[in-house]
Amino acid sequence: MGIFKNYVSQTRKPEGFLGKMMVNGMNGGHAKLADWGLSYLKDIAPIQIAELGCGGGRNAGELLRRYPDAKVTAIDYSPVSVEKASEYNRALIEAGRCRVQQGDVSSLTLPENSYDLATAFETIYFWPGLDKCFAQVEKILKPGGTFMIVNESDGMDNAGLRFEKIIDGMKCHTIEDIESALKFAGFSSVKAHHHRSKPWITVVAKK
Ligand SMILES: C[S@@+](CC[C@H](N)C(=O)[O-])C[C@H]1O[C@@H](n2cnc3c(N)ncnc32)[C@H](O)[C@@H]1O
Repeated sequence: MGIFKNYVSQTRKPEGFLGKMMVNGMNGGHAKLADWGLSYLKDIAPIQIAELGCGGGRNAGELLRRYPDAKVTAIDYSPVSVEKASEYNRALIEAGRCRVQQGDVSSLTLPENSYDLATAFETIYFWPGLDKCFAQVEKILKPGGTFMIVNESDGMDNAGLRFEKIIDGMKCHTIEDIESALKFAGFSSVKAHHHRSKPWITVVAKK
């Protein structure tokens, strides 16, 4: 595998030295996108939050900053991501507000009907089947709970489609694909937002 392909493929499941470099970069590199997405979360006061595919953990920390009464369980299937997210959120973990666990969104072992909010930033590209994985998210949310997806690719932009060709197992989904999988998994009130000038998308749905 060429070095470029190897490096960008670390976004799918960070591993080893290159994976550590990637998670460090993602924390800063995805912050503006994540904050844009979070601006669409209105009128909720979540107490239990599941941050899925948490990478380096910046967004778990940001959620706790925005929701001072909340607790976050951050999940990622990459041990490198779990290590970085734990280090990044050490003070919040010690304060009892954050847990970081290794886990796969295609078979979540989190308690059912327990979360007010689930978030997925820049991660559903790699989930093995939206229908199956969204059903797992639906299972852990409380009735009325919110699921928010934030992607920097709208499934039609050149950059996203270029990475899709390079990274095995990556799929850049359109808003329509995401909406349809959410409804199939039992979500309602599905609302999508597209950035004014960038291919960024946020989709928010209710259980
Ligand atoms: C591009 S990174 C994004 C990380 C972080 N959410 C952010 O915005 O910076 C994608 C992350 O999703 C994780 N991931 C991908 N598929 C996953 C799955 N099936 N279960 C859990 N984590 C997954 C990867 O390990 C990686 O840390």
